Amino acid sequence: MAKLPILIYPSPIIRKKSLPITSINGELQRFIDDMAETMYAAPGVGLAAPQVGTLRRIIVLDPHDDRKPIRPLTLINPELVAAEGQYMDEEGCLCIPDIKAEVPRFGRVVVKAYDRNEKEIVVEGSGLLARILQHEIDHLNGVLFIDRLSTAKRELVKRRLKKAAKVNS
Ligand code: CO
Repeated sequence: MAKLPILIYPSPIIRKKSLPITSINGELQRFIDDMAETMYAAPGVGLAAPQVGTLRRIIVLDPHDDRKPIRPLTLINPELVAAEGQYMDEEGCLCIPDIKAEVPRFGRVVVKAYDRNEKEIVVEGSGLLARILQHEIDHLNGVLFIDRLSTAKRELVKRRLKKAAKVNS
């Protein structure tokens, strides 16, 4: 396994739409293992393939506080099939270090996907799990959590990001 470098905002790649997976082979299995290792090392609760520069519809996530035993959930070609309710909570993203904001999300979602063994699965989640699922599926469509903020909040965050970019350049 290997840790993969995570792309940082404003990388143009994380703004692109990812393509569906059509077959799962050994190479893809290894890539999924690398994604999980990268997520745990970050540490993060979810990671989408475009965040490591691969424009494919794969996400790994683990909403558990207790990371032992390690049990990442892998979703391939995930699709939101039902959603209800709304709640606000703080969110961040491995691609946007040091920025956190309250983001409105559905409170409960149902996601259809394939697991790493090409088996069709349905994941139902509320709370943190629902939030991670929505955040990571957004990544597959080039959408970042800052896009989900109100205009005023988004401007504030963008100003902070610009300032950070100046400091780092
Ligand atoms: Co993210």
